[in-house]
Formats: sequence, C-alpha cells, structure tokens
Amino acid sequence: MNIPKVFENNRQWIAAKLEKDENYFTELSKGQNPELLYIGCSDSRVTAEDLMGVQPGDAFVHRNIANMVISIDLNTMSVVEYAVKHLEVNHVIVCGHYYCGGVKAAMQSADLGILNPWLRNIRDVYRIHQEELDAIIDEDSKYNRLVELNVQEQCVNVIKTAVVQKAIRDRNLTIHGWVFDINSGKLIDLKIDFKEILKDIMQIYTLK
Ligand code: CO
Repeated sequence: MNIPKVFENNRQWIAAKLEKDENYFTELSKGQNPELLYIGCSDSRVTAEDLMGVQPGDAFVHRNIANMVISIDLNTMSVVEYAVKHLEVNHVIVCGHYYCGGVKAAMQSADLGILNPWLRNIRDVYRIHQEELDAIIDEDSKYNRLVELNVQEQCVNVIKTAVVQKAIRDRNLTIHGWVFDINSGKLIDLKIDFKEILKDIMQIYTLK
C-alpha cells in the first residue's frame, strides 16, 4: 500500500466532489441525518457505503468482526442507542457476508486467545441452531447457513434492546438481515420473518 497515494487520492476525491457541487463540504459539515444504521463485518472486502451505493451522510456505520451485536459490548450498544434514539434512523441493517473469516473460525476448535470470547457468541448461534446445521452435510453450505443464521440472531439481539423496541412501537423502525456474497458482489435480503421468530420468545425480552 502506497500511503502517499492515499493522500493524492483524497485530493482527487475533493476535486471531484467540488466540481459537481462547490458547496459540497460546507453542506456536509452542517450535520448528519442518516436514514440507515448499517452493522457489518470489518472484512476489508465488504465496504459498506460502496456496495450499497450510498453517499456520505446516508448511513451510520458500525463494523466489527462478524457483524456481532453483543449486549455487553459498550461500543455496539452505544452505536445502536445513538443511531436509533438521537439520529432517529428508519432502518437498522445487520449485514453479514459469505466467506466470513470470523464465522469460519467459530466453526473450528483452534484457541485464538482474546478472539475466543468474541467468537464464542457465534458458537452460541451454532448451538441454538445445531439441529438444522448438523443436518447439512456439505461443509460450504453449512458455513453459508451459519453466516445467515448469525445475521438472524444479531438482528434478534438488536430487537432485544429497549431503544429499538421503543422505536418499533413509536415510529415503525424496521430491522433488516442481509448477506453480501463476495463471490458475486450481490447483496441478498434474507427476508427474515421476525414476527414468526419472535412470537414465542418476545415475552422474555420485552422491555417497557
Ligand atoms: Co466477516
């Protein structure tokens, strides 16, 4: 990676933006009003704004290894609180991706030190869905399905938060579970049926 080239790229980016709109950065500096909260993986191949074709100001973005939403992770929880309560986003997206190294690592038994407690949350997703996953013989299909089920469980974790429950009640906030397929570039809506998933468990997690 040529670091000076990064700064040259930045100069060209500024020039391109200003050529279209000379007030671009002045307007941008006035504040943000994003409609989307995007929670995705830190994987360098899964670029949130670029793959969605959105512009600066459109999406509030949080990325971590394997797009996890963990209740005692102050970082993710602060992002959700801020985006939903203060920025009043209309959509929360959890976007996983096939070929996710974090999910792959959770399917193996290697001791990865400080990564163990993080990846343990993905092992818990496997345990919750063990019957379905163990029935899949093909390893790649099992891996892909765990990626999808992990997205589903992280969406459920989003819905377990009080701030999201309130926004769903008060202003119809919508939660979406998506997967990005690196092999084709396609963004796939998992069309998760939250009503069906939550009908038996929501009484446990409801906060008022
Ligand atoms: Co990943």
